[in-house]
Amino acid sequence: MGEFKLIDGRAISESVHLETRQRVAVLKQKNITPGLAFIRVGEDPASRVYVGMKEKKCREIGITSQTHILEKETSGGSLLDLIARLNKDPKIHGILVQAPLPRQLNEAEVFASVLPGKDVDGFHPVNVGKLMLGDPSGFAPCTPAGVQQLLIRSGCPIKGSDVVILGRGNIVGKPLASILMQKSEFADATVTVCHSGTTDLAGHCRRADILIAAIGVPLFVKPDMVKPGAVVIDVGVNRIPDTAARNGSRLVGDVDFEAVKAVSSMMTPNPGGVGPMTIAMLMQNTVRAAEETLLN
Ligand code: GUN
Repeated sequence: MGEFKLIDGRAISESVHLETRQRVAVLKQKNITPGLAFIRVGEDPASRVYVGMKEKKCREIGITSQTHILEKETSGGSLLDLIARLNKDPKIHGILVQAPLPRQLNEAEVFASVLPGKDVDGFHPVNVGKLMLGDPSGFAPCTPAGVQQLLIRSGCPIKGSDVVILGRGNIVGKPLASILMQKSEFADATVTVCHSGTTDLAGHCRRADILIAAIGVPLFVKPDMVKPGAVVIDVGVNRIPDTAARNGSRLVGDVDFEAVKAVSSMMTPNPGGVGPMTIAMLMQNTVRAAEETLLN
């Protein structure tokens, strides 16, 4: 078997950021500064970290960001009022409501209230529909779009390949299946989506040329589930107890990296794989939303 190659999400995301920065510079010549509004409800520790990382990247790229932090008990009405105000604000080109939301809020209703043209997360039903239809005028959600870019930019052939996705969630599994099965130069794969109801899940996985784990089960993918030479992408972020760690826990992916490394040909590290690409796609979508205001 050939050499094992690490898919360096940090390095690949930096090359995307380079392109995005150039587009920001062009917009600034036209007196437009891309603006992104974050909304975070409550103090979920993971959401605080994610929004913080996205804000930092905005500063580095030249996107103006603002963050609205609402109390955990916030009513649907006040959240929808805030979104309505941001929808009308010409300085704001993208709106991101960080998920998960507290239980009293209806996530689907909230996502649907963001103007589709400002929905840089790609969660509005119009954008979900456009993705299914293969209409590139919509926004694709950032994590699945980032996975596709990782595969393209690391030279992994997608066309004609057998892709197995573990997980059918609305944020990753479902949209990623749509993206990779599309009739297009950078897709055209045969996609299987496995989930908790799948019979012989390991058997499906072993047929995959590209195996993508997005199920949220720590270290779920083991070497006996991977075809020798397969490409493995780990989308999972799971916190597990670790008595040796300072705070008593650590983050692991859905893939048992050290063990699977011996079988696969290319694999994302975690962290440092999909995460940075999600942010790169968010920056790209925001800049595109700003560019498109020039067309109207
Ligand atoms: N929660 C987990 N992933 C995402 C994402 O891509 N966008 C938002 N808004 N929330 C998330």
